[in-house]
Amino acid sequence: MNPHVVTGVKGRRVWDSRGRPTVEVEVDLAGGAVGRAIAPAGASTGSGEAIDLRDGGDRLGGFDVQTALGNVNGEIRLCIAGMDATDQAGIDQALIELDGTQNKSRLGGNATIAASMAVAHARAAAAGVPLWLYLGGEGVCTLPLPEIQIFGGGAHAGARIDIQDFMVVMPGATSFDEALAWTAEVYRVAGKMMDEAGKLQGVADEGGYWPAFATNEEGLELLVQAIERAGLVPGEQAAISLDIAATEFCHDGRYKLALEERELDSDGLGELLVSWVDRYPIVSIEDPMSEDDAVGMRRFTEAVGHRVQIVGDDFVVTNADRIRAAANEGACNTALIKPNQAGTLSETHAALTAAREAGWGAIVSARSGETEDVTVAHLAVGWGVAQLKVGSFARAERMAKWNEVLRIEEHLADRARFVGASPFASLVGAGTKWI
Ligand code: PGA
Ligand code: ZN
Repeated sequence: MNPHVVTGVKGRRVWDSRGRPTVEVEVDLAGGAVGRAIAPAGASTGSGEAIDLRDGGDRLGGFDVQTALGNVNGEIRLCIAGMDATDQAGIDQALIELDGTQNKSRLGGNATIAASMAVAHARAAAAGVPLWLYLGGEGVCTLPLPEIQIFGGGAHAGARIDIQDFMVVMPGATSFDEALAWTAEVYRVAGKMMDEAGKLQGVADEGGYWPAFATNEEGLELLVQAIERAGLVPGEQAAISLDIAATEFCHDGRYKLALEERELDSDGLGELLVSWVDRYPIVSIEDPMSEDDAVGMRRFTEAVGHRVQIVGDDFVVTNADRIRAAANEGACNTALIKPNQAGTLSETHAALTAAREAGWGAIVSARSGETEDVTVAHLAVGWGVAQLKVGSFARAERMAKWNEVLRIEEHLADRARFVGASPFASLVGAGTKWI
């Protein structure tokens, strides 16, 4: 018998970093290989994402996943049992057709992505290699630039401040290991500075410090100081990356910065962000405008897309068609790649391909609700994606991903190529010294 035939599919309820239920799927192959994967969950989700199917009602805040698990243990098991796990595209297509909706709302994107990723892990296990090596083959050697949150706001911190992620990247580092070590210093120093200022109030959902700031811009000021106090040169060794997650504070076309009691239109928000780009060593801005504000996104990209990476998250939701459409309109120049936004691994890869064909950059990303599952680390390396975003430098569900890339870097040894500043090579005049 073909050892790669799927013989078992089991869904089980496990728990994520917010203490909420989520879907784990375990896939058995005829030859004895087993693969396992867990669906993550977003809090600041785009409306175009694959649906994270929850039971609703009162129990567990409505977050239970019994319906999604029933789909895994019922229809999904019947559908993919007997299929060949080396045919990821065929299995994913079967899942897409079985679901039959545009957004996986019938089976649940949480059920389908966990099943799809578990199949990938099973076939890698059957080959006796880690997933990154199975996906990329022996030629794989690129280690991504980690994008690491220092302060967490927006939907991940009870809207304490409006901006969601204040992150650092280390384009001046020479290895992934060094980038993490530098980030560890910045994270430690930032925590000390928060403490000294009487502002240390624990951490937000992704492990970044809870942002006890008077203004959104205070996060930028503190970040630059923390980089300097960590002994790094801002704009040379270390730079700033922001996820504005503007969909979260956009209402009826107006952007409400609640912290500052200000309301801006699309142009006003664009001007504010450009003024930050002018004054701080910012190399990347994600979702600067709301998912509905295509005009604003295009205008902002026109204005500063040559100076900073403009990342579409809610705006393109890991969807190949949306990425192509955005690229045609000149909105964004980089795609955030979140597998559970797509719902299958094949659709996730199709989104990455669309981004590459458009000449865009790409960032593989985890979600704010995470677990010990490290699939995204394997996808980033295996697919040769130059950037990886998984939250902060604390909490085991985040560190599990960073540590997994460290192991891969060690395995690659002399062959390892850390991307460094190359994701930003085409950007000009951002006040940074490597471009
Ligand atoms: P989410 O946030 O996982 O809560 O959607 C992450 C992001 O916006 O990038
Ligand atoms: Zn985002």
